[in-house]
Amino acid sequence: MYLLGIETSCDETAAAVVESGERILSNVVASQFDVHRRYGGVVPELASREHLRAIVPVVRQAVEEAGLAYRDLGAVAVTCGPGLVGSLLVGVSYAKALSLSLGVPLIGVNHIEGHIHAVVLEQKPNEVPFPSLALVASGGHTHMFYVHRIGEGDYRYELLGRTRDDAAGEAFDKVAKLLGFSYPGGPIIDRLASYGNPEAIRFTVPRMKGNELDFSFSGLKTAVLRHVQAAGMEAEIARRRELARSAPGGRPTLERWLEATPQPTLDLVASFQQAVTEELVRHALRAAVERDVRSLIISGGVASNSRLRQRFSGQAVPYPVYFPSLRLSTDNAAMIAAAAYPKFLSGRFSDLSLAAEASLAL
Ligand code: KG4
Ligand code: ZN
Repeated sequence: MYLLGIETSCDETAAAVVESGERILSNVVASQFDVHRRYGGVVPELASREHLRAIVPVVRQAVEEAGLAYRDLGAVAVTCGPGLVGSLLVGVSYAKALSLSLGVPLIGVNHIEGHIHAVVLEQKPNEVPFPSLALVASGGHTHMFYVHRIGEGDYRYELLGRTRDDAAGEAFDKVAKLLGFSYPGGPIIDRLASYGNPEAIRFTVPRMKGNELDFSFSGLKTAVLRHVQAAGMEAEIARRRELARSAPGGRPTLERWLEATPQPTLDLVASFQQAVTEELVRHALRAAVERDVRSLIISGGVASNSRLRQRFSGQAVPYPVYFPSLRLSTDNAAMIAAAAYPKFLSGRFSDLSLAAEASLAL
């Protein structure tokens, strides 16, 4: 069974064909990176326009690269939320039209559920022991779920904690921006942090009132800002902004960033990264113990963070931990097709009333 997945919830137009929820036949991602970079973040109006431009060729490429024709597709799955509503609408409308014209089922998928299935997709069938604790951390969300698998066709999700303000990836991006690095800042901070001392500055994250498994990252961002103001870093920040402006494609190499970043700033970056990742690790482990799970699933763009991966590897964590490969960590449509497969098996289809929902809950 060939399932076409479509993903347009944020700033990537993506389409993929996955066979029987297991084998990726194609996985096309058209990033709008260059459109948004100069604004230091995603501009919703521009995002929908770019999706409109890209959706038809991206889907066509996914079908062609899979070596298939449209008539071979058994179902069309699409992200229907959460995300930018104008962006979601492009994918949802196109998926409806395609499923109608092909006479195949339409399956709406929650984007966060997709991130969880990016991990399941890459393991052998029945490899991941459930129940599992899933941490999904990206630019748009930081959520922890208790995930239970009930037979082949059904997964149940229970939200255990979420961010009350910034998402983890958003914190990386905002701190990077304030330090003069370019967008998205997560990968840059990750690479530079390995040159700094993570113990140099002790950032404390306040304990949560109410649900202690919730996250809060905005205070951390403010703490970095205060540090920047106290240390008088304006000149070096201006230098890095200029570097980003003048670099080919707006992407300075690691060497150029390092030249423009003195040791105390590398220490600051490393300490910030440590504070964010420790918070994610602490919450995930606490939830895992409380709910007595059998594995951990770590997904979303921030799951590519090398320190986070390192913290969850080895003896430190008494659970098998599953990460997606780097290409499935960030937004893609293979994960949407994979998440749709259990729904296909159990006949949970959407109809043409499927709506794009900006804050769709899982
Ligand atoms: O899942 P994703 O592609 O899109 C959203 O759904 O948001 O995640 C993108 C986010 C960005 O905030 C980016 O800075 C962050 O993931 N990110 C990272 C790393 N790679 C991507 N954050 C920290 N370390 C990384 N290596
Ligand atoms: Zn995402």
